[in-house]
Amino acid sequence: MSGNADTVVTTLAAGRKANQLYPEQHPAFVEALDALVTAVSDATAAGPFRINVHQGRLYHESVVISEETPGLTSLEEAFESRRIESLTLHPGFTREEAVGLVHVLGLKPSTSLDIERELADRGIANATVAFLAEDEEQEERDRLREQDRALYNRLVSVLRTMSAQVAKAHHADLENASGLVGNIMRRLLEDQASVLGLATIKGQSETNLFHSINVMIYSLTLGASLGLPEEGMASLGLAGLMHDVGKVVFDPADPNQAQSMHVLHPTVGADILSRLPDDDKAPMLVAYEHHMHTDGAGFPDRPADYVTHPFSRMVAVANRYANLVDPGANREGLTPDRSIMQILDEAGTTLDPLFARLFAKAMGVFPVGCLVRLTDQTVGVVARASSDVMKPVVRLTYDAKGLELDDPHEVDLADEGLEILEVVEPESLNVEVSEKL
Ligand SMILES: [Fe+2]
Ligand SMILES: [Fe+2]
Repeated sequence: MSGNADTVVTTLAAGRKANQLYPEQHPAFVEALDALVTAVSDATAAGPFRINVHQGRLYHESVVISEETPGLTSLEEAFESRRIESLTLHPGFTREEAVGLVHVLGLKPSTSLDIERELADRGIANATVAFLAEDEEQEERDRLREQDRALYNRLVSVLRTMSAQVAKAHHADLENASGLVGNIMRRLLEDQASVLGLATIKGQSETNLFHSINVMIYSLTLGASLGLPEEGMASLGLAGLMHDVGKVVFDPADPNQAQSMHVLHPTVGADILSRLPDDDKAPMLVAYEHHMHTDGAGFPDRPADYVTHPFSRMVAVANRYANLVDPGANREGLTPDRSIMQILDEAGTTLDPLFARLFAKAMGVFPVGCLVRLTDQTVGVVARASSDVMKPVVRLTYDAKGLELDDPHEVDLADEGLEILEVVEPESLNVEVSEKL
């Protein structure tokens, strides 16, 4: 039996090689393919014959294929790079199928290569493949995505209840919110890109609620890049979440109140938060100080030697970024990359120079949520950073013709030899970025 396996491996590897080197009519190709068909025919005499990969090694059933087998390494690599877990050959494997199979196994590996479809397109029924647990990985990612979105929605609803409480009684109970901030913080430390993906969610109404949560996420991103300990992160996150709490007592629909809301929300917010029994003063200070600029401008007025809390300066950066990408009131924001440029532009004037730069570094040149067109004209959303700042991992959503893909998938630009051609305005394609991540 193992003799069969060795021969199948050797002839299959030789067939792939012949496919690369010779045209189909070439005697060397014909000979290699004949040998493959014969080997498969012998191997499948007693029924289907399977070779499979386990941890980079090829096996026939549970027997490892000898390292001396010619062509073994090239076939192992061919399987691995295409995420093939096993290849099963069935009795009746024809010469046409052999030609198709070596051709398919020679197609350039990429995340868009669909081997099953390629085999089906060539009418190959007697060679079937199974793939490494990518489906399971995908399922796990989908599950976490649902879980993260549910967490985000719970936070929206807790914040909604709290805002109503504050508007009525000028008093808030932060306990539920703190618990959820803790959950988001732990998820962010586990998987920053996914949580940053959540911050691309925009509210059609209740924009303040979404703004608050997104400012919290950006604040935590900055905190994480500074390596703040968990307790500091929890306090910073809560401060980011509550920074605009003073707004809830105003009615923004009333033009007279809109102006007072803008000027007074820091004082009102600090007043609300000062009544909490909690001895963590950061949320109160951040509510009061988040519109104070580094150069002394901003509001409320303060003495020349007034020193703001570091969290206030961090939340100010997060708040500025959130307002740049999403100014609310149905106005169009800047794209994430241009928002980062703007943050850097304001480093040292309105914004703290160190925190502004650290934030830009944490977010990257093409932050998560950037809609980008690639050199092959496909379009996708930046899903996470990679080792090369110019080549992040992109979740492809549109093909080169601009048609929406029914199976959006991630490509690592560094691996695929692709580059970002331009950043696209989501409005120009009518895309809701948060739904694509
Ligand atoms: Fe504010
Ligand atoms: Fe704000």
